[in-house]
Amino acid sequence: MTKAQRMIEENLKLVDAVCEILDARIPNASRNPDIDRLAAGKPRLIILNRIDLADPNITAQWRRYFEAQGIKILETDAKSGKGVNQFNQAVREVLKEKIEAYAAKGQANRPLKIMILGIPNVGKSTFINKVAKRKAAIAGDKPGVTRGKQWISIDQGLDLLDTPGILWPKFDSQEVGEMLAITNAIKADVLDKETLAANFMLRLCRLYPDAVKARYKFEPNLEMNGFELLEEAAKKRGFLISRGEYDIERMANTLLGEYHDGKLGRISLEKPE
Ligand code: G4P
Repeated sequence: MTKAQRMIEENLKLVDAVCEILDARIPNASRNPDIDRLAAGKPRLIILNRIDLADPNITAQWRRYFEAQGIKILETDAKSGKGVNQFNQAVREVLKEKIEAYAAKGQANRPLKIMILGIPNVGKSTFINKVAKRKAAIAGDKPGVTRGKQWISIDQGLDLLDTPGILWPKFDSQEVGEMLAITNAIKADVLDKETLAANFMLRLCRLYPDAVKARYKFEPNLEMNGFELLEEAAKKRGFLISRGEYDIERMANTLLGEYHDGKLGRISLEKPE
C-alpha cells in the first residue's frame, strides 16, 4: 500500500464524510478509482467543479449518472464561488442520520468533519477558500506540488480536512493521460506537446466542430489527422514560419492555452458510459 493510501485510510477514521472534487469536464479521468474501495462505507459527496468550463448538458448527464449510484452531487465554479454556498446543505443531507445520532446524544452542535479529496489542480484550495470565505488553503496552478494536511474550521459547523497532493491521478490509458495533461492535472511535458494538442484538436473537431469553426475559422474535416487540423488552425491564425511552413508548436500552445482559459466555450471531454 502506498504512503498516500495509508494516509487516506488513517484519516478516514477521523471524518464523518468524504467529499471528492472532480473536474466536471473529465469526471472519470479526474477520479481516482481506488477511492471507492478506500472510502467504502463512508457517506460520500462528489463536487463537479469547473462547471463554468464544462458543457452544461453533459454535466447534467454526469449528475444523473452519479445520483443513480446514490452519490450526492454538487456542481460548482469554485473560482467565482457559484454553487459553493450549497455545500453546507449538501453535507447535511449526506449526513442526515449522523446529525440525528449526534443530536440524540446531546451533541447537536458537534462540527461535521469532512475529508476533501481530489487530484492535483482540480480546485481543492480554491473551493476550500470560498467555503471558508478566507484564504485558508494555498491555491496555485502547479501540478504535482505537495503540501501537508490541515484542518480548516468554518463558521457553519464544518471542519474540513484538506489533504493536498495525496490523491494521485490514475491512468492506464494514453487517452486518460492526455485528458489529465490538457486540464493541467499532470504536467503537459510528460507528453510531447504537439502530439497532445493534435490529438486534442481531433477530439474537439469530433465533439465540438462548431466551437472549432467559430474560434479557428476553418471547417473541420474529419478525414484529416490531428496535425493537419492543427495546421489548418495555424494557417488561419497566420502562424507562418517560412513560405508554406506553419508554426505547429505555437498553435499547439495556443490551443491548449485557449482551452484552459475557456475561450473555446464550455467543452466537456468525457460523457458517462
Ligand atoms: P488544487 O488545490 O486542487 O491543486 O487546485 P487549486 O485550488 O490550486 O486550483 C487550480 C487552478 O484552478 C487555479 O488557477 C484556480 O483558480 C482554478 N480553478 C479552481 N476552480 C475553478 C473553477 O471552478 N473554474 C475555473 N475556471 N477555474 C478554477 P490558477 O492557478 O490560479 O490560475 P488560473 O487557471 O485561474 O489562471
